[in-house]
Amino acid sequence: MSDTASHTASDVPPAPAPAPATPPPFRPGLEGVPATQSAICDIDGRQGQLTYRGFDTAILAAQSTFLETAYLLIWGDLPTAVQLREFEHEVQMHRRVSFRIRDMMKSFPAQGHPMDALQASAASLGLFYSRRALDNPEYIYGAVVRLLAKIPTMVAAFQLIRKGQDPIQPRDDLPYAANFLYMLTEREPDPLAARIFDACLIIHSEHSLNASTFSARVTASTLTDPYAVVASAVGTLAGPLHGGANEDVLAMLEAIGSPDQVEPWLDRAIAERQKIMGFGHREYKVKDPRAVILQSLAEQLFDRFGHDPLYDLACALERAAAERLGPKGIYPNVDFYSGLVYRKLGIPRDLFTPIFAIARTAGWLAHWKEQLGANRIFRPSQIYTGSLPRQWQPLDAR
Ligand code: SDX
Repeated sequence: MSDTASHTASDVPPAPAPAPATPPPFRPGLEGVPATQSAICDIDGRQGQLTYRGFDTAILAAQSTFLETAYLLIWGDLPTAVQLREFEHEVQMHRRVSFRIRDMMKSFPAQGHPMDALQASAASLGLFYSRRALDNPEYIYGAVVRLLAKIPTMVAAFQLIRKGQDPIQPRDDLPYAANFLYMLTEREPDPLAARIFDACLIIHSEHSLNASTFSARVTASTLTDPYAVVASAVGTLAGPLHGGANEDVLAMLEAIGSPDQVEPWLDRAIAERQKIMGFGHREYKVKDPRAVILQSLAEQLFDRFGHDPLYDLACALERAAAERLGPKGIYPNVDFYSGLVYRKLGIPRDLFTPIFAIARTAGWLAHWKEQLGANRIFRPSQIYTGSLPRQWQPLDAR
């Protein structure tokens, strides 16, 4: 019998494991590392251009509506008139939120931050619609409609509840943006204010793989329900380096006080290596195109409803920062002027980020659906920098 024949499989030495591929270099914050492929949004950070499914956001902000843009982001094409009418009707029919959720919100501390209230109430939707049929287009459509419809209602509800009032029901005769402002202020908004608010929702609705959208995709990749996906993203957006900056910008402008204080304040902040809120961006190395649009919207509001001196201060800060930080590619981002728009609309400051979340729910849902279409659970590697193997030491020996 030949040698080879007398050997059993267990005698054959295992083939050497292939040499591990050289891991890509560690990039803090995954800067510049593609973590997914996506067809939803493209950013040209050098030219300052932003497109949703190939459409320029400046055109969408001027010509479209938030729900039409949400449809485009989620399903990839602009809807026909029939598709849009049906989508708007479905969203309108699902605006109401269960009394159980409203009662839960009444138990929240009034001084709690509205983003925490939103994260809790968004997650609670999963208790009512827990069936996960992620391969069923009707389930996907239903989840999209419910989240787009109910997130604004929950933001407005907490605002009234924390004032000790009962939330008011949505008005079916008002379009999306106007209905939110109505539920928030208990007054039907001026048509121009509603139109400008709708445009704000459009330009905040999507921005490729920002931190909260990355959270959404990671959470989606585990095949959990879409309500958990949105709750995960809301928690991420709340941070001051992300969606929370819009609140801080107004506080910063008020701290500066007047345009003649801008330069000394800025020189001090830069010397102390402070991050200037509303400035800088991982992608844009020029002025965020959304900041340009928001400035125009702010000026339209000021023309109609009266000027805001903080705007002059903001423009002075932008000019001074361009000299000092422009060479580093640090310019205003989306959060720099948005607060001035919302302030003129009479929206409380700590609702600026929840409004960002209302808009970005469209983008999160688009990425949730795209992730499901070609899913692989996110599980990146790491570079271990901890201790080498050590021996256990009992307590009395330490
Ligand atoms: C949003 O990703 C998205 O798309 C987000 C968003 C979206 O639509 O989803 O656009 C929304 O989050 C807008 C950003 C809102 N946050 C802020 O305005 C907070 C202030 N900005 C920064 O914290 C900062 O600019 C970030 C977080 C937005 C981006 O940070 P990066 O890309 O990680 O840059 P970095 O912190 O590594 O800084 C690089 C350099 C540093 O200088 P050096 O140490 O190299 O000398 O730039 C400096 C930073 O000090 N720098 C700033 C600055 N931002 C960066 N210096 C002063 N002020 C700033 N705002």
